[in-house]
Amino acid sequence: MQDQTIGTVMITQEQINKRAAEIGRQIEADYRGESVVLVGILRGAVVWMADIMKNVNLDMRIDFMAVSSYGASTKSSGIVKINKDLDTDIEGKNVIIVEDIIDSGITLNYLKGYMENREAKSVRICTLLDKPEGRRVDIDVDYIGFTVDDKFIVGYGLDYDQKYRNLPYISYLEE
Ligand code: IMP
Ligand code: MG
Repeated sequence: MQDQTIGTVMITQEQINKRAAEIGRQIEADYRGESVVLVGILRGAVVWMADIMKNVNLDMRIDFMAVSSYGASTKSSGIVKINKDLDTDIEGKNVIIVEDIIDSGITLNYLKGYMENREAKSVRICTLLDKPEGRRVDIDVDYIGFTVDDKFIVGYGLDYDQKYRNLPYISYLEE
């Protein structure tokens, strides 16, 4: 039996592949002749991170950070905690933060400031999903895979209570 709480397929693997290729071309054009550090935000961004890095033919390094603000609830606590810091010195580097989804914007706003404090040359954001209705802080997002409605999204790296990250498509929790 399928888990009854999962909605139907919202965005397919095929659509995501196509979008990752488009964004890859855009990133290559924006950073032509330069090097970049992709920073994936664990754990939600891992699947999208793999898609993006394969589609960007530039001098690249990758790193990961882990932050938490959610726990097992579906609404942000507003508090960002670093569980795993960077291993890379990003001073003077072009950083692209790769995230699964922007909801309130609190996590990415914090992370952008964090990279800027470490004197990155530039900081941009590449998110698989954007949920603009949830926004509580203003933030510029440079590369957006897809814009979604205010549902709780799961799959393709995104979890509910650590489950469903392995779904090879984007779905949502039923009310
Ligand atoms: P924000 O700080 O409210 O923008 O939330 C960002 C983080 O909350 C994301 O990195 C996700 O881990 C999590 N999150 C926000 N919305 C969803 C969702 O619909 N499904 C799963 N995780 C979400
Ligand atoms: Mg996350």
